[in-house]
Amino acid sequence: MELTPNSFAMSVDAGGILEPWTSKIERRLSDMAGMYADPDAERDAIAAGDAVVYEVYQHDMPNHAGELVVCTTLLYPGKVGDEFFMTKGHYHEIRERAEVYYGLSGEGQLVLAKDDGAAEAIPMRPGTVAYVAPCWAHRTVNTGSEPFVFLAVYHGDAGHDYGTIETEGFPLLVLERDGEVAVVSRQEAQ
Ligand SMILES: [Fe+2]
Repeated sequence: MELTPNSFAMSVDAGGILEPWTSKIERRLSDMAGMYADPDAERDAIAAGDAVVYEVYQHDMPNHAGELVVCTTLLYPGKVGDEFFMTKGHYHEIRERAEVYYGLSGEGQLVLAKDDGAAEAIPMRPGTVAYVAPCWAHRTVNTGSEPFVFLAVYHGDAGHDYGTIETEGFPLLVLERDGEVAVVSRQEAQ
Protein backbone atom coordinates (compact mmCIF):
# COMPACT_ATOMS: atom_id res chain seq x y z
CA MET A 1 0.00 0.00 0.00
CA GLU A 2 1.26 3.42 -0.93
CA LEU A 3 1.42 5.83 1.96
CA THR A 4 0.67 9.53 1.58
CA PRO A 5 3.93 10.84 0.14
CA ASN A 6 3.89 14.50 1.12
CA SER A 7 2.77 16.61 4.04
CA PHE A 8 0.11 19.20 3.38
CA ALA A 9 -2.27 21.66 5.03
CA MET A 10 -6.00 21.51 5.48
CA SER A 11 -8.24 24.23 6.85
CA VAL A 12 -11.66 24.57 8.41
CA ASP A 13 -13.81 27.46 7.30
CA ALA A 14 -16.15 29.43 9.56
CA GLY A 15 -18.98 27.06 8.72
CA GLY A 16 -16.97 24.02 9.78
CA ILE A 17 -16.33 22.54 6.33
CA LEU A 18 -12.91 20.89 6.01
CA GLU A 19 -10.98 21.95 2.91
CA PRO A 20 -9.96 20.11 0.90
CA TRP A 21 -12.41 17.29 1.59
CA THR A 22 -12.58 14.15 -0.55
CA SER A 23 -15.79 12.51 0.64
CA LYS A 24 -18.97 13.74 2.25
CA ILE A 25 -21.64 11.92 4.23
CA GLU A 26 -25.11 13.35 4.72
CA ARG A 27 -27.47 11.61 7.12
CA ARG A 28 -31.17 12.30 7.38
CA LEU A 29 -33.51 10.98 10.05
CA SER A 30 -34.58 8.19 7.70
CA ASP A 31 -30.94 7.08 7.34
CA MET A 32 -30.88 6.28 11.04
CA ALA A 33 -34.42 5.00 11.48
CA GLY A 34 -34.84 3.02 14.69
CA MET A 35 -32.04 4.78 16.56
CA TYR A 36 -34.14 7.31 18.48
CA ALA A 37 -35.82 6.11 21.63
CA ASP A 38 -39.35 7.25 20.75
CA PRO A 39 -40.44 5.40 17.58
CA ASP A 40 -43.65 7.41 17.17
CA ALA A 41 -41.81 10.74 17.37
CA GLU A 42 -39.21 9.41 14.96
CA ARG A 43 -41.83 8.31 12.43
CA ASP A 44 -43.58 11.69 12.69
CA ALA A 45 -40.31 13.61 12.24
CA ILE A 46 -39.44 11.61 9.12
CA ALA A 47 -42.93 12.23 7.72
CA ALA A 48 -42.64 15.93 8.58
CA GLY A 49 -39.67 16.54 6.29
CA ASP A 50 -36.97 14.01 7.11
CA ALA A 51 -34.44 16.64 8.21
CA VAL A 52 -30.72 16.41 7.58
CA VAL A 53 -29.29 15.56 11.00
CA TYR A 54 -25.60 15.84 10.19
CA GLU A 55 -22.97 16.15 7.49
CA VAL A 56 -19.40 14.87 7.58
CA TYR A 57 -16.62 16.32 5.42
CA GLN A 58 -13.66 13.98 5.33
CA HIS A 59 -10.22 13.91 3.81
CA ASP A 60 -9.77 10.22 3.05
CA MET A 61 -6.43 8.54 3.59
CA PRO A 62 -4.96 5.13 2.79
CA ASN A 63 -6.31 2.32 4.97
CA HIS A 64 -3.15 2.05 7.07
CA ALA A 65 -2.47 2.42 10.80
CA GLY A 66 0.26 4.94 10.05
CA GLU A 67 -2.14 7.38 8.42
CA LEU A 68 -4.55 9.79 10.10
CA VAL A 69 -7.99 10.58 8.73
CA VAL A 70 -9.29 14.09 9.42
CA CYS A 71 -12.95 15.05 9.21
CA THR A 72 -15.36 17.69 10.41
CA THR A 73 -18.96 17.06 11.40
CA LEU A 74 -21.80 19.58 11.30
CA LEU A 75 -24.49 18.24 13.60
CA TYR A 76 -27.65 20.30 13.31
CA PRO A 77 -29.88 21.35 16.21
CA GLY A 78 -33.14 19.55 16.67
CA LYS A 79 -34.97 16.89 18.64
CA VAL A 80 -36.95 13.73 18.05
CA GLY A 81 -39.49 13.85 20.84
CA ASP A 82 -37.33 14.97 23.76
CA GLU A 83 -34.13 13.37 22.42
CA PHE A 84 -31.56 15.69 20.88
CA PHE A 85 -30.27 15.18 17.34
CA MET A 86 -27.27 12.85 17.34
CA THR A 87 -24.92 10.90 15.11
CA LYS A 88 -25.39 7.17 14.54
CA GLY A 89 -22.41 6.37 16.71
CA HIS A 90 -19.96 3.56 16.10
CA TYR A 91 -17.19 1.37 17.35
CA HIS A 92 -14.10 1.18 15.22
CA GLU A 93 -13.84 -2.04 13.25
CA ILE A 94 -10.40 -2.37 14.77
CA ARG A 95 -11.46 -1.82 18.38
CA GLU A 96 -7.98 -0.83 19.55
CA ARG A 97 -8.06 2.49 17.69
CA ALA A 98 -8.39 5.76 19.56
CA GLU A 99 -9.71 9.07 18.21
CA VAL A 100 -9.46 12.75 19.10
CA TYR A 101 -12.37 15.20 18.90
CA TYR A 102 -11.96 18.96 18.93
CA GLY A 103 -14.97 21.23 19.44
CA LEU A 104 -15.15 24.11 16.94
CA SER A 105 -18.56 25.70 17.50
CA GLY A 106 -21.84 25.01 19.21
CA GLU A 107 -22.17 22.62 22.10
CA GLY A 108 -23.03 19.05 22.75
CA GLN A 109 -22.18 15.81 24.45
CA LEU A 110 -19.80 13.07 23.41
CA VAL A 111 -21.33 9.85 24.70
CA LEU A 112 -19.14 6.79 25.06
CA ALA A 113 -19.82 3.13 25.68
CA LYS A 114 -17.82 -0.04 26.06
CA ASP A 115 -18.93 -3.59 25.41
CA ASP A 116 -18.50 -4.42 29.13
CA GLY A 117 -21.39 -2.04 29.91
CA ALA A 118 -19.32 1.00 30.91
CA ALA A 119 -20.69 4.33 29.67
CA GLU A 120 -19.95 8.01 30.14
CA ALA A 121 -20.50 11.42 28.58
CA ILE A 122 -18.08 14.28 27.97
CA PRO A 123 -19.52 17.80 27.49
CA MET A 124 -18.16 19.44 24.34
CA ARG A 125 -17.76 23.17 23.73
CA PRO A 126 -15.55 25.19 21.36
CA GLY A 127 -11.99 24.39 22.38
CA THR A 128 -12.75 21.07 24.09
CA VAL A 129 -10.27 18.37 23.10
CA ALA A 130 -11.76 14.96 23.88
CA TYR A 131 -9.76 11.76 23.80
CA VAL A 132 -11.76 8.69 22.82
CA ALA A 133 -9.79 5.79 24.25
CA PRO A 134 -9.42 2.54 22.31
CA CYS A 135 -12.41 0.13 22.45
CA TRP A 136 -15.02 2.82 23.23
CA ALA A 137 -18.02 3.39 20.95
CA HIS A 138 -18.68 7.09 20.42
CA ARG A 139 -21.63 9.24 19.44
CA THR A 140 -22.08 13.01 19.47
CA VAL A 141 -25.25 14.86 20.41
CA ASN A 142 -26.18 18.50 19.73
CA THR A 143 -27.66 19.95 22.91
CA GLY A 144 -27.70 23.57 21.70
CA SER A 145 -29.67 25.75 19.32
CA GLU A 146 -26.99 26.17 16.64
CA PRO A 147 -24.95 23.65 14.67
CA PHE A 148 -22.50 21.67 16.82
CA VAL A 149 -19.31 21.49 14.77
CA PHE A 150 -16.26 19.44 15.64
CA LEU A 151 -13.14 18.03 14.05
CA ALA A 152 -12.06 14.43 14.49
CA VAL A 153 -8.79 12.61 13.81
CA TYR A 154 -8.48 8.82 13.71
CA HIS A 155 -6.24 6.08 12.36
CA GLY A 156 -6.47 5.29 8.66
CA ASP A 157 -7.20 1.62 9.27
CA ALA A 158 -9.73 2.09 12.11
CA GLY A 159 -12.87 1.47 10.05
CA HIS A 160 -16.45 1.97 11.26
CA ASP A 161 -18.68 -0.62 12.89
CA TYR A 162 -22.15 0.96 12.93
CA GLY A 163 -23.95 -2.37 13.13
CA THR A 164 -23.28 -3.08 16.80
CA ILE A 165 -24.94 0.18 17.87
CA GLU A 166 -27.79 -0.30 15.36
CA THR A 167 -28.46 -3.71 16.89
CA GLU A 168 -27.81 -3.09 20.57
CA GLY A 169 -28.50 0.66 20.92
CA PHE A 170 -26.50 3.07 23.02
CA PRO A 171 -26.69 2.76 26.83
CA LEU A 172 -26.96 6.55 27.32
CA LEU A 173 -29.62 8.91 25.96
CA VAL A 174 -29.34 12.70 25.91
CA LEU A 175 -32.75 14.27 26.50
CA GLU A 176 -34.29 17.63 27.24
CA ARG A 177 -36.07 17.45 30.59
CA ASP A 178 -37.68 20.53 32.13
CA GLY A 179 -35.65 22.71 29.80
CA GLU A 180 -32.35 21.14 30.89
CA VAL A 181 -29.98 18.73 29.22
CA ALA A 182 -30.21 15.31 30.87
CA VAL A 183 -27.88 12.38 30.18
CA VAL A 184 -29.79 9.29 31.29
CA SER A 185 -29.42 5.57 30.99
CA ARG A 186 -31.64 3.87 28.43
CA GLN A 187 -33.30 1.81 31.17
CA GLU A 188 -34.05 4.92 33.21
CA ALA A 189 -35.65 6.59 30.18
CA GLN A 190 -38.03 3.72 29.49
FE1 LIG B 1 -14.67 7.01 15.26
